[in-house]
Amino acid sequence: MFQAAALRPSSKREQYSELVEQARGLLSGEHDRVANAANLAALGFHALPDLNWAGFYFFDGRELVVGPFQGKPACVRIALGKGVCGTAAATRETEVVRDVEQFPGHIACDIASRSEIVVPLVGADGRLLGVWDVDSPKLARFDAEDRAGMEALARVWLEAVAA
Ligand code: SME
Repeated sequence: MFQAAALRPSSKREQYSELVEQARGLLSGEHDRVANAANLAALGFHALPDLNWAGFYFFDGRELVVGPFQGKPACVRIALGKGVCGTAAATRETEVVRDVEQFPGHIACDIASRSEIVVPLVGADGRLLGVWDVDSPKLARFDAEDRAGMEALARVWLEAVAA
């Protein structure tokens, strides 16, 4: 059974680079999108502090549909352009939301969520595959280093599923 190594007190950047290495090891040699999303969601949820949700939405060609995640049950379908996830998917830009209550159209799946990062997952051919989303019960939990770290984790997943 895979065990995420406990993160030593070090800089956030070092913690993410360790986490990215763990993710590479966990996903290496496996191309299945669902399997890799499930393991990345579990790794992130248990390794990153102060999260109440970590997981994936997949683009089905029309809208986002919830995929593997850790946390409380979530909204199943999100239209492109709606909420934080639908906005990140439509713009293909990472959304770092310091206060979800200030985000127009935020979809409250878990009322405990206060801040959020959503990274769009775009294949090498430019196709939208989905989004990678983490939520926190803490206000302003995520900063530019979290953004860079979450984007690096997204790249590990994209490289594994493309191979
Ligand atoms: N809050 C998100 C919905 C998904 S959950 O956070 C799991 C949004 O506004 O898109």
